[in-house]
Amino acid sequence: MKIDGVSHRTIWPTTDGAVEVIDQTLLPHRFAVRRLETLEDVAQAISTMVVRGAPLIGATAAWGMAIAMRADPSDAALDAAHGRLLRTRPTAVNLRWALDRMRARLAPLAPADRAAAARHEAASICDEDVAVCEAIGEHGSTLIAQRHRQTGGTVNVLTHCNAGWLATVDWGTALAPIYKAHDAGIPVHVWVDETRPRNQGASLTAYELGAHGVSHTVIADNVGGHLMQHGRVDMCIVGTDRTTRRGDVCNKIGTYLKALAAHANGVPFHVALPHSTIDWTIEDGVREIPIEERDATELTHMTGRLPDGSLATVEIVAPGSPAANYAFDVTPAHLVTSLVTERGICPATAEGLAGLFPARGG
Ligand code: MRU
Repeated sequence: MKIDGVSHRTIWPTTDGAVEVIDQTLLPHRFAVRRLETLEDVAQAISTMVVRGAPLIGATAAWGMAIAMRADPSDAALDAAHGRLLRTRPTAVNLRWALDRMRARLAPLAPADRAAAARHEAASICDEDVAVCEAIGEHGSTLIAQRHRQTGGTVNVLTHCNAGWLATVDWGTALAPIYKAHDAGIPVHVWVDETRPRNQGASLTAYELGAHGVSHTVIADNVGGHLMQHGRVDMCIVGTDRTTRRGDVCNKIGTYLKALAAHANGVPFHVALPHSTIDWTIEDGVREIPIEERDATELTHMTGRLPDGSLATVEIVAPGSPAANYAFDVTPAHLVTSLVTERGICPATAEGLAGLFPARGG
């Protein structure tokens, strides 16, 4: 996607064996590129959310494996890199998917061949992510176009967190259909949940929609139900960090409440995902998906820009008040209208997913 007319992906390799990423902790105030040179640089970038979003976490981890193989291509280093990167964030299953794919590709090779093969495989994971997300956009935009044909007016989409191009290598998942619809001339407006505590909606989704010229309005996380009651949301489209084989979806904390409100108000609730987000090993998302708990300071403090342009972090909770920072929640499949994948759109059921992905879904 373009920022100030310049095309960007969120991650790219350098000619000297490192990888560069957009530092998402500084957006929307500063656009800065961060160079990652070591396995530890990559692990830290994922755990501190310099990069975030399920597909991008997977892609970054793949490059972490490539960087590790350049330093030491031994079996022991391969296993250590896989283990170190897997511990960075627990919920998004794309991380495990990418790491397992890298290890399966590299383990059978002689150590001397691993560094080059790892770079090739990491690049393939990134290129495939771009193609997959664009296909999600093509399929999902038909839902927006269909609604536009029904009403003849602007289609109002509510989204939560950031599942745009910043959360992937390019295009995004939930936002890809919006970009495709916008580019096709369909009038679309996006209600952007701010997404406390880290504000990925206010900081990232609003930034990238604005950069692409898509009409949008940032709202506090508690506003969606009110808008739905008043007919001002045509559909919700969100991403997912892990989808079970029966279609339960785990996404940024607060997604479940939006799904409940959508269900109560008859608003379609669509979830956009690549195949790498499906965890075929589990069925019951509420019981089986590990929910990340992050540092309470993400909740008790906020960072923003001061009038002089500098960034500052301020405390917003009375000192000493305990705070709990659950990062994700699970929306049961019965609240999901449809799953939008690179292979098409299906109901959020075991049969629906297995129909699109027969090799994995039985
Ligand atoms: O904690 P984050 O910012 O990595 O969480 C990201 C989300 O929850 C996204 O909505 C998710 O990755 C959806 S897919 C791009």
